[in-house]
Amino acid sequence: MKEKIGIAVLVSGGGTNLQALIDAERSGLLEHGHIVAVISSQRDAYALERARIAGIPGYAFVRKELGADEFERRIAETVDSSGASLIILAGFMSILSENFVKKYPDRIINIHPALIPSFCGKGYYGLRVHEEALKRGVKITGATVHYVNEIADGGEIILQKAVDVLPGDTPETLQRRVMEQAEWIILPQAAELAAKELLLPGT
Ligand code: GRF
Repeated sequence: MKEKIGIAVLVSGGGTNLQALIDAERSGLLEHGHIVAVISSQRDAYALERARIAGIPGYAFVRKELGADEFERRIAETVDSSGASLIILAGFMSILSENFVKKYPDRIINIHPALIPSFCGKGYYGLRVHEEALKRGVKITGATVHYVNEIADGGEIILQKAVDVLPGDTPETLQRRVMEQAEWIILPQAAELAAKELLLPGT
C-alpha cells in the first residue's frame, strides 16, 4: 500500500472545492494524500453531506458557541487525532489565529477566489471578492492556492489560474466561472504538490 499523507479539509459551506478533492483522490490525481477528516465551522454545511456520502468522518464546531480558543482547540484535536498532517482550507470562512497557524508550519493551504495580491486580505472572502473585481473593472481574475501564514492570504503561492471576466457578469456568475475554471482545477493539483512535498521533501 503506497504511503499517503493524511489530509483534514476545513469547510463552511456548499463544499464544491471539497468535492473536487474527493473526486481527485478517487481519480488518482491526488496520489500522495488521503482525506481522513472534514471539519466544518457550520453545522448545516452541505459539505458535511458530501463527506458523509464519500464515507469520510465529518465534524462541526461553531466558533460563536464555543468561543475562539475552544473552537480552535477542538479543530486541532480533531486534526491530530485523525492523523492528518496537511490541512486544506476549502471555502473555510473563519480566520485562524497566529497560534493555530504556527502549530502547523507549511502544513496549511488555502484556496482564495482571486489572483493574489489582488482582492485579498482581511474582509475579502466569498462573493465580496467578485463584487470588488467587477467594481474595479478588471478583465481577468481567477483563483490562488497558497500556504497559510499569520498574514491573511499572505503565504507562499503554490498555484494560480486566470479566468476571463465577461460583459454582463454578476458576482454570482463570475463566482461560478472562477470555481469551475480555476478553483476546482488548481486546488486538487496544489493538494497533490503539498502532500508530495511533505511525503518526499524536495522531489
Ligand atoms: C468558493 O469560491 C471559495 O473560494 C470561497 O467560497 C466559495 C464556496 O466554496 N471561499 P465551496 O463550494 O464551499 O467549496
